Amino acid sequence: MKVNFVDLVAQYHSIRDEIHAELDKVLSTGAFVLGPAVQEFEQAFAAYCGADHCVGVNSGTDALNLAVRVLGIGPGDEVITVANTFIATVNAIALAGATPVLVDINESDYLINALLIEQAITPRTKAIMPVHLYGQPADMDAVMAVARKHGLHVIEDACQAHGARYKGKAVGTFGVMGCFSFYPGKNLGSYGEGGAVVTNDPALAEQIRVYRNVGQAAKYVHPVVGFNTRLHSMQAAVLKVKLKYLNEWNAKRRAFAARYAERLAGTSLVLPKANPDVEHVWHLYVVQHDRRDDMLKTLQDQQIYCGIHYPVPVANQTAYTGIRTVPAGAPASARFAKRILSLPMHPDLTEEQIETVAKAVYAFERV
Ligand SMILES: Cc1ncc(COP(=O)(O)O)c(C=O)c1O
Repeated sequence: MKVNFVDLVAQYHSIRDEIHAELDKVLSTGAFVLGPAVQEFEQAFAAYCGADHCVGVNSGTDALNLAVRVLGIGPGDEVITVANTFIATVNAIALAGATPVLVDINESDYLINALLIEQAITPRTKAIMPVHLYGQPADMDAVMAVARKHGLHVIEDACQAHGARYKGKAVGTFGVMGCFSFYPGKNLGSYGEGGAVVTNDPALAEQIRVYRNVGQAAKYVHPVVGFNTRLHSMQAAVLKVKLKYLNEWNAKRRAFAARYAERLAGTSLVLPKANPDVEHVWHLYVVQHDRRDDMLKTLQDQQIYCGIHYPVPVANQTAYTGIRTVPAGAPASARFAKRILSLPMHPDLTEEQIETVAKAVYAFERV
């Protein structure tokens, strides 16, 4: 049985009529750019997160880019983030002209090791950017405490964690801004590119609105040099429909993660765990194995499609040669990158597919 890593087509068919109705509203009114669909989605997503404001942009990358920019972070400044993340997190800092500093991860949850953050702080540090990777919230009590102590901003990269909660509060609402991606395979994904910034600060929300729209504060009035990175109306229409299902889909992911844990408990895989006090939304189900590459190939030969998030740590990418890591070399992240495998995970998985994955893992371990 074929097991796709994600299945966007099955999900589309389950909501096809609603999607068509919402797209038709956009198409038949011609409101393609910053139309009512964008505003409606922004309001709905802000309410969903429990934030006062949401500003839709064209990608998670641009959500992060603009968040860094509106805080006035630039050349001469440093921003601390985590060694184990998607490269866009770090790019947002570097593209603003600031210097990224990467802190290593906890072995237990693969997220920023908050105990190391103070070692990374210098007089130039302006912000901390924790990443709620794989759908699990970072240790926000610890991150916020160190940020408060040193007077630093916190920008949350919540691109993989729509709906995840830490001590009952939604990710993206702890720091001054939270950034989301709506890339198609995300827990809340559009049918193309999309992203958003959520915040409780009205002035920052307004600045993001200006920056996303060619720096325009009113028609042809441009106080700053901005970008064209608006959330498209068609994508907002899709997201509005899908947001209604997000909790249900996240619950399915949680149930599938529990099923994997049950079925794979007897293998030598290191299985991921949700920390106490969090609601993990299982964007990815990331296991570890000593013979990761062999396992990946064996599963793929049986049409079980897995991923690696991420095979080369940011610090080892040519683009970031010489980047400062804390501790030097970020050894936990480096070790982890060689051992990780993301098993198929999406809300349209079936029990049979989980069984197929589990049997293939057992068979691999027997040879
Ligand atoms: C952790 C993280 N940060 C940032 C991004 C960037 O989002 P996007 O692909 O929408 O630009 C992604 C998604 O790919 C991500 O997973």
